Amino acid sequence: MNPLSSTCSIPVTGETPRHVAIIMDGNGRWATQRCLPRTAGHVRGVQAVRRAVEACGRRGVEYLTLFAFSSENWRRPAQEVTLLMRLFVRTLEKEVDKLIAQGVRLRIVGDLSAFDAKLQGLIREAEAKTAEQSALTLTIAANYGGRWDILQATRALLEAHPELQQHPELLDEAAISERLAMAYAPEPDLFIRTGGEQRISNFLIWQLAYTELYFTNCYWPDFGANEIEQAFIWYRQRERRFGRTSEQLHEAH
Ligand code: IPE
Ligand code: IPE
Ligand code: MG
Repeated sequence: MNPLSSTCSIPVTGETPRHVAIIMDGNGRWATQRCLPRTAGHVRGVQAVRRAVEACGRRGVEYLTLFAFSSENWRRPAQEVTLLMRLFVRTLEKEVDKLIAQGVRLRIVGDLSAFDAKLQGLIREAEAKTAEQSALTLTIAANYGGRWDILQATRALLEAHPELQQHPELLDEAAISERLAMAYAPEPDLFIRTGGEQRISNFLIWQLAYTELYFTNCYWPDFGANEIEQAFIWYRQRERRFGRTSEQLHEAH
């Protein structure tokens, strides 16, 4: 049994979420409201990433996962996509030393084959340089889609175990979970989406099964330590039942 799976067992949960996953939304609207080009919102959004990493590090969060570019974001105007890629490269080049100083291990998940060779190289380099850090694992989801993740895990599983085609009854959840791009992390305890929309937009669809979902109207460039604190306060008030009754939970204490 996988002790980290919310459906195969009951995870041990604490006052502070171990894993926080964020959809950083609202950059474009933040900029439009100020008569700035949408891309200015993305540039400001990088500062909010730094604040989130610092605040989560201070609070003892072990895993912070940020959705930076979805598998559907290629549908945006070419100019915006190009700016986002450039920003990604620039940030990777600039921030790695700071991440090491903060004890942050960096991982990038998603279909990286779509990125140009330079960006793929930078990603590998940044991951290797920070691999020994252990205070906080920061995952950036780039060209990521939850459906892509489940598909690539299933393909990898069938390649490794062709006999499953004859014996599908041998297939279990763990076989898929351990091949997902973020198999190294527990499932998120707290999901945050900024920008006011209340949807998952193809983020970690498998892993969010029992995650607490928090939505705020705050645009991502305005999101900081105080807003994270608000989300954590809200999280502490949730009763995480994982299918049981409230009475059962109280009996257990
Ligand atoms: C999130 O902000 C950043 C990315 C998707 C890259 P948006 O760019 O989606 O901002 P809005 O939702 O249009 O305001
Ligand atoms: C989700 O935001 C993806 C990221 C934040 C990277 P979107 O702005 O792309 O989501 P939709 O299109 O409003 O659902
Ligand atoms: Mg958006």
